[in-house]
Amino acid sequence: MKAIVVTDQAAGTAGMKLVERPEPRSAINDVIVEVHASGFVPTEVDWPSTWTDRAGQNRAPSILGHEVAGVVTALGYGTTGLSIGQRVFGISDWHRNGTLAEYVAIESRNLAPLPGDVDFTVGASLPISGLTAWQGLFDHGRLRSGQTVLAHGAAGAVGTMVTQLAREAGAYVIGTGRAADRQKALDFGAHEFVDLDNDTLEDVGGVDLVFDVIGGGIQERSAGMIRAGGTLVTVTGLADARPEEGRAVDFVVESVPAQLVEIVQRIRDGRLRTNIGTVASLDDAVAALNPTGRRNGKTIISVRP
Ligand SMILES: NC(=O)c1ccc[n+]([C@@H]2O[C@H](COP(=O)([O-])OP(=O)(O)OC[C@H]3O[C@@H](n4cnc5c(N)ncnc54)[C@H](OP(=O)(O)O)[C@@H]3O)[C@@H](O)[C@H]2O)c1
Repeated sequence: MKAIVVTDQAAGTAGMKLVERPEPRSAINDVIVEVHASGFVPTEVDWPSTWTDRAGQNRAPSILGHEVAGVVTALGYGTTGLSIGQRVFGISDWHRNGTLAEYVAIESRNLAPLPGDVDFTVGASLPISGLTAWQGLFDHGRLRSGQTVLAHGAAGAVGTMVTQLAREAGAYVIGTGRAADRQKALDFGAHEFVDLDNDTLEDVGGVDLVFDVIGGGIQERSAGMIRAGGTLVTVTGLADARPEEGRAVDFVVESVPAQLVEIVQRIRDGRLRTNIGTVASLDDAVAALNPTGRRNGKTIISVRP
């Protein structure tokens, strides 16, 4: 099968190559998914799990991509709950070969049914960004109606989901990002926007929940803005500064099928919009995943257009 692999961490995403690899085998509780579309997070080449298996052994060359939408073609021993021919979407295991390939082996518990009226490209754009937003806001951030959310990177893949879900839940949403992101963040539902290069973040006052996707100094300054009882949620690792009278949570997203069902239902009924920029074929994936300019939304690789 065709797959996009990396062999050299120092080369970054520029080191991706389109190669031929053996098709995966389905282990206990796995399914094999014929990949129709794959999503990719640009920082994947920096994740330790891209380079080692769960025992810490080198697993390069690694197939990239962890978001998938496709069709089940085989069931591993003991697999229940899914059937051959079923449309599915979800997140593949961080430490195993990924979804930028014609086939991928995934534990069935990480997949949810993809409704027939949702495109594979849309399905592949939702799992990491949608679930990260859902889990950060509701599981870790314990968001309640009437609270104020500071959504960093509000025009990005995770940030647009955070903005929409927080607003639907009755929160007041302050988005942040670069000057060029203002209109997009407002279009996705932010009530106001802070240009991190030209505005003063602290001018917006106290907030109940910070959703951080940037880290470093921006995260540290945000910690000081959290009201008593509030929460700093990050997906980039915790910096040194913590909320004085609140909680701080750093987490890695998990594939939770019941939450994927909630997210895709919102796509179907129009409560949620996905943030897709470029769609490219597997043959054009290396170029598409190394754009010369800024990304404007998620890049989705349409493996079977
Ligand atoms: N732990 C987890 O489970 C998890 C899950 C999902 C994502 N993540 C991480 O979360 C981060 C965001 O992911 P994503 O997919 O949402 O990426 P994305 O689509 O690139 O969105 C990030 C947004 O934040 C903006 N931004 C970044 N640094 C900024 C700065 N210093 N000032 C102003 N704006 C800034 C980006 O603008 P530019 O493009 O101009 O930089 C972009 O609009 C990545 O580091 C990713 O690895 C972690």
